[in-house]
Amino acid sequence: MSRVAVLKGGRSLERSISLKSGARVEDALERLGHSVLSVDVGHDLVDRLLADRPDVAFVALHGRDGEDGTVQELLELLGIPYTASGPSACIRCTDKVLAKHLMRDAGIPTPDFYAFNETAFKELGAAAALPALEERLEFPIVVKPAGQGSALGIKFAQDAAAVAPALVAAFSYDTKVLLERHVAGRDLAVSVLEGPDGARPLPVVEAVPRDGDFYDFEARYEIGRTSFACPAEIGDEHTWRAQELALRVYELFGCYGFARIDLMLEEATGELCVLEANAIPGLTETSLLPQAAEADGIGFDALVERVLELALDRSIA
Ligand SMILES: Nc1ncnc2c1ncn2[C@@H]1O[C@H](COP(=O)(O)OP(=O)(O)O)[C@@H](O)[C@H]1O
Ligand SMILES: [Mg+2]
Repeated sequence: MSRVAVLKGGRSLERSISLKSGARVEDALERLGHSVLSVDVGHDLVDRLLADRPDVAFVALHGRDGEDGTVQELLELLGIPYTASGPSACIRCTDKVLAKHLMRDAGIPTPDFYAFNETAFKELGAAAALPALEERLEFPIVVKPAGQGSALGIKFAQDAAAVAPALVAAFSYDTKVLLERHVAGRDLAVSVLEGPDGARPLPVVEAVPRDGDFYDFEARYEIGRTSFACPAEIGDEHTWRAQELALRVYELFGCYGFARIDLMLEEATGELCVLEANAIPGLTETSLLPQAAEADGIGFDALVERVLELALDRSIA
């Protein structure tokens, strides 16, 4: 039995999802016989951790602070073991621009892209380069902020006129944005979970939006708006390839415990490409990692226990 601080909530835009992930983790920990300290992360985080000195922290935060390495760095400093990836892997996953560069340099297929800091537009006249970019990527172009999740701030620009407003929207979330080739195809996710034999990809999940063509923030978290297929019906070849790519990304970014890699299977070419990696994927009722674990015979409680044990193992190693 351990005294576990569950870190949840926080001030990121994904706060509501984190509260759900956290609550579900707390229920599981209680069923497993652990004692739970529930922490809605805010100004008093360090004070609370110093006062309560938990054996281990279960990080159930998504987005800013919790998934980007900030909280992990503090936990390192305080000497409190914690679940999932360390600061450097969190940074590599959370910064989509960095992640895309690392993947491209490593030869992992990812949609073509150009990335810009806000200063390129404010100080270097980057707007004049947009026609060149539009020629290279072709429409529609996907515009996304470097550091968000849950499809927040992502826009599909159908033509040249739509690019500027999409950029403005993306820059309202982050000072870096990504302009990416649009891949028409199927939305896949492969979670990776560590076990006694090291990191292993779980069954592939396909997210199928019920209405509309985009798997957006609301659709992701409202039960019934998106249907999921797990294992995804994409054939053995694509399944193995997706799992292999996910594992390569997991290792490239230096993740620990678990992570979820999002991919697309392009309809026209049958090629797979990696969109991004999530260092702390959702753990809600509709989230993909728990579904994939379930399909692999690992129930939610067993998943939580495994992740907790890994956190304690790392602190001993
Ligand atoms: N290049 C792209 N082509 C087609 N669809 C995309 C592309 N990038 C993102 N999407 C859609 O947007 C969703 C969210 O994008 P993603 O890069 O995974 O960011 P996040 O999940 O962090 O918001 C994807 O699951 C996919 O449905
Ligand atoms: Mg994603």
